[in-house]
Amino acid sequence: MTLMKGSMLYEGKAKKIFETVDPDRVIQYFKDDATAFNAQKKGTIVEKGVVNNKVSEKLFRLLDAGGVPTHFIERLNDREMLTKKVRIVPIEVVVRNIIAGSLAKRLGLKEGEAIAPPIVEFYYKHDALGDPLITEEHIRLLNLAEPAMVGQIKELAFTINRILTPFFQERNMILVDFKLEFGRHKGRLILADEISPDTCRFWDQKTKESMDKDRFRKDLGKIEEAYQEVLKRVCG
Ligand code: TMP
Ligand code: ASP
Repeated sequence: MTLMKGSMLYEGKAKKIFETVDPDRVIQYFKDDATAFNAQKKGTIVEKGVVNNKVSEKLFRLLDAGGVPTHFIERLNDREMLTKKVRIVPIEVVVRNIIAGSLAKRLGLKEGEAIAPPIVEFYYKHDALGDPLITEEHIRLLNLAEPAMVGQIKELAFTINRILTPFFQERNMILVDFKLEFGRHKGRLILADEISPDTCRFWDQKTKESMDKDRFRKDLGKIEEAYQEVLKRVCG
């Protein structure tokens, strides 16, 4: 399929978005650039873009089949996927199954304890403010999404968790937590962005070792190896 790649619409920390001849479709290009702590820490994870593109494809297809609408159309090559063009809702939606990361730090809780039932959190997608944790009232105050849409986001987030958790379990991985972004497309709410080792915490079932971007955030070493292992377990 020939698809004219047009000019760049947006460059983020880990991806670039290009327009196509079709005004309703864009190309999402995955970079190897890695950042942490609101880009205070910068680096490269070799072949990360390829891993994140292929892992995202697999998970978007799985979710689509499970009735979750996503922006994914098709993977074009190693680093690019074709997606629907959306208006991103500026809320980072985090689902947590196990205590880790900022939740452990903020509330003084011990990492590794199960959260039952799982919880959802909202963060305001705003680099200059450092993506602060926000409540549904703040979402209303800032007019980021209508209350009905917030309800829909929550419901979808838990549905996604119910689909992904057993998928990873079958691959000897614990889905600790993950971040989602949603977009508006033709008046409908759909899942957008990516789902990858950049945006999820995965622990090896047996060793409990991190198999995700925490290896970069915390300088744990064997970063590329962990990303390749996730690719192998997810895409076989
Ligand atoms: P946190 O514990 O640091 O709040 O992270 C929760 C989840 O969200 C974790 O799976 C990593 C993911 N995440 C992102 O995708 N982007 C971010 O900027 C941050 C801070 C976390
Ligand atoms: N993407 C984040 C940043 O650099 C960091 C993270 O994922 O922890 O802003």
